Amino acid sequence: MTKRVAVIGSGPSGLAVLRAFQSAKAKGAEIPEIVCFEKQGNWGGLWNYTWRTGLDEFGEPVHGSMYRYLWSNGPKEGLEFSDYSFEEHFGKQIGSYPPRAVLFDYIQGRVQKAGVREWIRFHTTIRFVRHDAQTGKFTVTAHDLKKDSMYEEVFDNVIVASGHFSTPNVPEFPGFTTFNGRIMHAHDFRDAMEFKGKDLLVVGTSYSAEDIGSQCWKYGAKSITVAHRTAPMGFDWPSNWAEVPILTHVDEDTAYFKDGTSRRIDAIILCTGYQHHFPYLPDDLRLKTRNRLATADLYKGVAYVHNPGLFYIGMQDQWFTFNMFDAQAWWARDVIMGRIAIPADKAALLKDVEDRVAGEEEGKDAHDAIHYQGDYVKELIAETDYPSFDVDGACQAFYDWKDHKKAGIMTFRDHAYRSVITGTMAPLHHMPWKDALEDSMESYLRS
Ligand SMILES: Cc1cc2nc3c(=O)[nH]c(=O)nc-3n(C[C@H](O)[C@H](O)[C@H](O)COP(=O)(O)OP(=O)(O)OC[C@H]3O[C@@H](n4cnc5c(N)ncnc54)[C@H](O)[C@@H]3O)c2cc1C
Ligand SMILES: NC(=O)c1ccc[n+]([C@@H]2O[C@H](COP(=O)([O-])OP(=O)(O)OC[C@H]3O[C@@H](n4cnc5c(N)ncnc54)[C@H](OP(=O)(O)O)[C@@H]3O)[C@@H](O)[C@H]2O)c1
Repeated sequence: MTKRVAVIGSGPSGLAVLRAFQSAKAKGAEIPEIVCFEKQGNWGGLWNYTWRTGLDEFGEPVHGSMYRYLWSNGPKEGLEFSDYSFEEHFGKQIGSYPPRAVLFDYIQGRVQKAGVREWIRFHTTIRFVRHDAQTGKFTVTAHDLKKDSMYEEVFDNVIVASGHFSTPNVPEFPGFTTFNGRIMHAHDFRDAMEFKGKDLLVVGTSYSAEDIGSQCWKYGAKSITVAHRTAPMGFDWPSNWAEVPILTHVDEDTAYFKDGTSRRIDAIILCTGYQHHFPYLPDDLRLKTRNRLATADLYKGVAYVHNPGLFYIGMQDQWFTFNMFDAQAWWARDVIMGRIAIPADKAALLKDVEDRVAGEEEGKDAHDAIHYQGDYVKELIAETDYPSFDVDGACQAFYDWKDHKKAGIMTFRDHAYRSVITGTMAPLHHMPWKDALEDSMESYLRS
């Protein structure tokens, strides 16, 4: 009997798994039957933009957290697939900070070439997974949303690739019930034009806060105020931008902050992060972790220590993205295909997690964190046939990116970096990011 493997989600992580198995097949290996379940109507995960918020047409929570005019927030040279370069996809080298549509096209190019779309059941949400200790198998309950029909199937392994930036973490502050303006979480943000001419309060200091604030500035918000719980971002912001301590409360039209100051505001965007949320997994299979580099309970950051027949891809906080998901996917594939052995002793699995946590905690700053995750990617790819690439070169692109942000938070996307896959230098984009209001693929590729 051929093994059967269920993959939950066809975002970049799930697609990495499909490509990993297909590449083994292309080299002549016998591979398991792969069934990928995807609740949306298309692949690409977060990169598959939707205008919808709240619930979708079937009453399912909308997965998408991306918004119009989103450009990559890190250099593409840090995420390039080592088996499918940007030059192979676009027929030429392109700029370093592509808009969403360009990255979506790149992601789908590789899997179109691999011919794995038929492995995916679209419009199919996973409702439940249970493990039978007697047989060692997993029973997956799927809901075909179009037919409105639920069914069960049995698998030898399950790979969870459903992402962790879709279920918002939404704190409440006193006065929210009586505030007259809009209060929303970043997950529901879609179009910066909504805030043109408005005084905007952003809560949080990470990438969503930085990028949504910057988008709103670029598209004409009157002022941006960013409230921090721990520390300000500290960039050299434009003159209509302020960083303030966390808010204590709001009234109908004013926000009050911990330092005693206050500001009149029109709208509040909570850029307060996301939760790892797996409503379809029971207690014995469900990963519970913070958003960090060394996740809890994952051996090699991938195999669930309490049941190593279950794998999670892409659950880490992310400096590296697409190429790290590839490294994890190739590694999980090789465990499933019997090419890599997982220690039978649970204590060894737990020790691996403990060591990873200690390694992360030794780091002092972002530089150390990038280096740490780069070493992790190297460790995994050394154990598989994923084409090796210059991980240190990708780390260098991230270090340069950090410096460019410090030098100019509204100009860092005007820089270009060298591909670690093809060695080619990216061209400079034909206009500064702050002036590029039209972000279509056609416009971006015009170089
Ligand atoms: C606003 C935003 C901007 C970002 N920008 C960048 C960037 O510029 N560069 C970068 O490298 N990374 C960026 N990221 C990080 C992003 O996490 C990764 O690029 C990538 O999308 C993660 O891939 P994934 O497959 O793990 O998860 P996702 O992309 O979230 O895909 C998960 C898939 O699982 C499906 N799914 C979920 N639940 C179920 C279920 N129960 N049944 C069936 N299917 C299910 C979803 O529909 C989705 O298709 C950004 C993230 C956010 C939130
Ligand atoms: N253009 C782009 O490419 C783009 C744009 C947006 C997001 N992203 C990606 O999306 C992912 C998620 O980023 P994120 O910024 O949404 O989440 P995040 O990195 O997890 O950051 C969460 C932020 O919320 C703050 N926070 C949490 N709870 C809070 C509370 N109760 N009160 C005040 N502040 C609170 C945290 O503050 P503390 O520091 O105090 O904990 C932190 O600043 C990242 O991978 C990022 O790269 C990319």
